[in-house]
Amino acid sequence: MAKWSGIVAVVSLTVFLMSVTAAAVLPIHPYLKVEDTFISQLYDTSNYGFLQIDNGLARTPQMGWSTWNFFACNINETVIKETADALISTGLASLGYTYVNIDDCWSRSTRNLKGEMIPDPKTFPSGIKALADYVHSKGLKLGVYSDAGIFTCQVRPGSLFQEKNDAELWASWGVDYLKYDNCYNLGLPPQKRYPPMRDALNDTGRTIFYALCEWGIDDPAKWAGKIGNSWRTTDDINDTWISMTTIADINNKWASYAGPGGWNDPDMLEVGNGGMNYHEYKGHFSIWALMKATHNYIFLNSSLVFLFDCLMEYFVSSPFSKQFLRSDNKFVMQPFFCEIACWFKWRMSAPLIIGCDVRNITADTLKILSNKEVIAVDQDPLGVQGRRVYASGPDGCQQVWAGPLSRNRLSMVLWNRCSKAATITANWSAIGLKPSISVSMRDLWKHEVVSENTVGSFSARVNAHGCEMYILTPRRATRSST
Ligand SMILES: *[C@@H]1O[C@H](CO)[C@@H](O)[C@H](O)[C@H]1NC(C)=O
Ligand SMILES: *[C@@H]1O[C@H](CO)[C@@H](O)[C@H](O)[C@H]1NC(C)=O
Ligand SMILES: *[C@@H]1O[C@H](CO)[C@@H](O)[C@H](O)[C@H]1NC(C)=O
Ligand SMILES: *[C@@H]1O[C@H](CO)[C@@H](O)[C@H](O)[C@H]1NC(C)=O
Ligand SMILES: *[C@@H]1O[C@H](CO)[C@@H](O)[C@H](O)[C@H]1NC(C)=O
Ligand SMILES: *[C@@H]1O[C@H](CO)[C@@H](O)[C@H](O)[C@H]1NC(C)=O
Repeated sequence: MAKWSGIVAVVSLTVFLMSVTAAAVLPIHPYLKVEDTFISQLYDTSNYGFLQIDNGLARTPQMGWSTWNFFACNINETVIKETADALISTGLASLGYTYVNIDDCWSRSTRNLKGEMIPDPKTFPSGIKALADYVHSKGLKLGVYSDAGIFTCQVRPGSLFQEKNDAELWASWGVDYLKYDNCYNLGLPPQKRYPPMRDALNDTGRTIFYALCEWGIDDPAKWAGKIGNSWRTTDDINDTWISMTTIADINNKWASYAGPGGWNDPDMLEVGNGGMNYHEYKGHFSIWALMKATHNYIFLNSSLVFLFDCLMEYFVSSPFSKQFLRSDNKFVMQPFFCEIACWFKWRMSAPLIIGCDVRNITADTLKILSNKEVIAVDQDPLGVQGRRVYASGPDGCQQVWAGPLSRNRLSMVLWNRCSKAATITANWSAIGLKPSISVSMRDLWKHEVVSENTVGSFSARVNAHGCEMYILTPRRATRSST
């Protein structure tokens, strides 16, 4: 043990120094380097594109709030300001929900004589710049919305063919985020309509998160990584169980394409809007987090954090690797670095896009949205999307979803989509663990370790339409464990 620690210290120092000198070189994701067939089969990352759009954003999925799911077009500057205040007073902002996004309907229905978009004078009389200043004064960021067509879905001006001027205007207002929709697109292919806005945003010199909303029509996971920081994989969500589960399943298909810099977006959260019960919303939030859904994530800007990020992307061989997931002796990330990076990161960030009225939030809704441990799964720096790995029962409604996390851990959700309570079992082979591995199971909703030494499989009783969520941490190395 002492010898191992010594070696680790030396290697750590070396890697640290390498990192300092090479901090500008972006690390390759570990899973892309390792030819480990077991992992690549189960948690396929073959399409994982690391930081393809290099605007410095979306190392983890974005987090924040958006007007659309609750307010639709009934918005004004007062609601935005009050929501910014509420994000602070509820503590949600400090958990990482930092983007305050105005969806459709902020703009007047016609441009001015100079061809510029203007904020609707009735609802945004002070203008977007004033709103951005207000939001920034709270330490939050402001998002706007436009469309890769000639109109938005609510028939306000779209930005197709006007990308450069519009992007410059938004940047001059201090906008930090753009959701870019797909209505009135003249039938032109998205691969032609979305890149010009990427370039226009980049040309402004202002760092602006670029969220593509192409509804998943042309399989954007396959091409959007080079264009935006996130891409919608499905049609709009609505506040029903059927919509939420359908969208989870569609988004799941594209898991191998998500990664730091670019994320699959299964649309904004409906948690708190009243169309589903507590258990259903808990599942909605847990699965979105496991899938690294874009809940409007927070973003870290400090170069120190960047350095830690780099450190943890390096990895050295450790005996731990023999215990977990690997059938060979290939490299795994060195836990010590990750410990620092995660500590640092969790302190400063937290994660997802809320869609309810935060000014009037209930205790149950706040409890779901502010679950730090679930948020930490969403924001895990490894950035590999979790996915459904097993289903049994009628219509496969007893489901196991899982995904790798940093520090050789796994996240797991037992999701009961049946209409009756059920016991769901996760067999180690189904989630990618060797049968002999002993893990400690932390329950992310009970906030406690429910088992120190689980081997082979794990079962739990799960409510109808409910879920349980865990982090599995392999125990240190007693090879003789049974
Ligand atoms: C613009 O793109 C370049 C090249 O990808 C990148 O290095 C730069 O950070 C981008 N700038 C902004 C403001 O997004
Ligand atoms: C602003 O919008 C909110 C939410 O739709 C509404 O309750 C409020 O009356 C509006 N305020 C004004 C001044 O229009
Ligand atoms: C909600 O979504 C479901 C599933 O996609 C769809 O069948 C239904 O029509 C939608 N409901 C509304 C009100 O849009
Ligand atoms: C990081 O964010 C803070 C607060 O928004 C800002 O004051 C600071 O200038 C930023 N630092 C960098 C390096 O961008
Ligand atoms: C606040 O929420 C409650 C239900 O949670 C609802 O009855 C009430 O109308 C809401 N108030 C406002 C001002 O929206
Ligand atoms: C787990 O799966 C393996 C392989 O499919 C099987 O042999 C074993 O019996 C299963 N164990 C449990 C506890 O279900």
